[in-house]
Amino acid sequence: MEFIVKSGGPEKQRSACIVVGVFEGRKLTASARQLDQISGGGLTAILRRGDHAGSIGQSLLLHHVPNIPSERVLLIGCGKEKDLGDGSYRVILGHAARALGQTGATEAAVFIIADLDVRGRDLNWKLRHAVEITEEAYYRFDQMKSRKSEKHHALHRMVLMVPKRSDLAPAENAVRQGRAISAGVKLAKDLGNLPGNICTPSYLADQAWALHEEYGVKTTVLDEPDMRALGMGALLSVARGSSQPPKLIVVEYRGGPEAQPPVALVGKGLTFDAGGISIKPAAEMDEMKYDMCGGAAVLGTLRAIAELRLPINVVGVIPSSENLPDGNANKPGDVVTSMSGQTIEILNTDAEGRLILCDALTYTERFNPSVVVDLATLTGACVVALGRHASGLMSNSEPLARSLIGAGKYSFDRAWQLPLWDDYQKQLDSNFADMANIGGRDAGAITAACFLARYTKKFKWAHLDIAGTAWKTGKEKGATGRPVPLLTTFLIERSENRGHLEA
Ligand code: BES
Ligand code: MN
Ligand code: ZN
Repeated sequence: MEFIVKSGGPEKQRSACIVVGVFEGRKLTASARQLDQISGGGLTAILRRGDHAGSIGQSLLLHHVPNIPSERVLLIGCGKEKDLGDGSYRVILGHAARALGQTGATEAAVFIIADLDVRGRDLNWKLRHAVEITEEAYYRFDQMKSRKSEKHHALHRMVLMVPKRSDLAPAENAVRQGRAISAGVKLAKDLGNLPGNICTPSYLADQAWALHEEYGVKTTVLDEPDMRALGMGALLSVARGSSQPPKLIVVEYRGGPEAQPPVALVGKGLTFDAGGISIKPAAEMDEMKYDMCGGAAVLGTLRAIAELRLPINVVGVIPSSENLPDGNANKPGDVVTSMSGQTIEILNTDAEGRLILCDALTYTERFNPSVVVDLATLTGACVVALGRHASGLMSNSEPLARSLIGAGKYSFDRAWQLPLWDDYQKQLDSNFADMANIGGRDAGAITAACFLARYTKKFKWAHLDIAGTAWKTGKEKGATGRPVPLLTTFLIERSENRGHLEA
């Protein structure tokens, strides 16, 4: 989709379709009111006939509205004006995008962005989300179908209308950010949706090389012998049960001053998690192809910031492996030695994410990072605790936690903090090694983070458990691309050195 910004009133636009809003109670938004006036009350007459109540999800396409130079007018329901918030704004724009896609219009001028007054949100926020929601509405994954779905919409250009000429420059910037985030989300979604037999650790490594080709980022891929030399006994133990070779993928983006310590993003890239010898039940096991979504989101975020040329240094680290049962696989009771020297008793081979992450986190020390954020589809317990709306956030740095939560709010890719108190640590006690890899039934998301905390003492660190947010289950099964919006927003913020997203 092509997005352009323009200023001007609806009465002057010569567009294939003009998009305006109606609130419940037949209240027209500002641009709709203007159209109504020049058409001699054309819109109010239609509303009075009862054809549009203004509820969210309702839309009405009008042709030949008198005195209006545009071919069509699309009336979009905006619900109760006083209920308008971040979530409903996004829902309304999603409906507008889908309704537009069903028309024959190849181009549209959208007025509901400027017209909708979302409390506390500026034009940057509204434009960014309009772009992201539109790309979301038109996303399809048909790489694996022999017959590609036909082009499902004629629309190829959206004109996002802003009130004043002076809004144009900041609006262009907001659209640029929205487009970059959407491109990162799309990469993360595509990689997540690919099946495990295609998206292997080697395939993920190829994606990192593709980023090198396209954006000039520095890509390094460590193979098994490199990992052995580094003593990555935990990561290697998980990979032993699989015939796919593991990879430790490193991507360095250097947009900031040379001496600036980088932000490190560490993403779980488990390309299929059968659980290993502690094998998972068959139901919904296919969804464990999504166990690499943390790694995919690292690649997606790097793509977004490279596209934006953000003046910041970021390094992405992705430990990647499969977790399968096999004669060589980890067995319950096995003890392995991690790169840090700490030993781990593997009481459940299905708690493999922390095993591959702990060595990746130790490896990350060499970049002398300013902060480290890891993202992982780590625990079913996190889904039980928070459902599928918020990612779980645990951190050893309160300011870092605050800014991630703020970035999550701004990007509507929300995270909710759980405690990381030392009191939980003893659940990881082992009779045979420095720690066990599971902490029992209680507080499973937190004890998983407690495990990682033992490998992150040297830096400011936050952990995002994205088990509930990285993909949708059920009829709409598919990757979401989360938390690319959160992370990209966090990095935009950090590169601009602004703090207004903290609240
Ligand atoms: N990848 C899973 C976590 C997961 C499960 C994410 C279901 C989304 C949906 C992870 O490797 C895992 O299996 N975790 C175990 C840990 C347990 C054995 C302590 C879990 O959550 O059951
Ligand atoms: Mn597992
Ligand atoms: Zn897993």
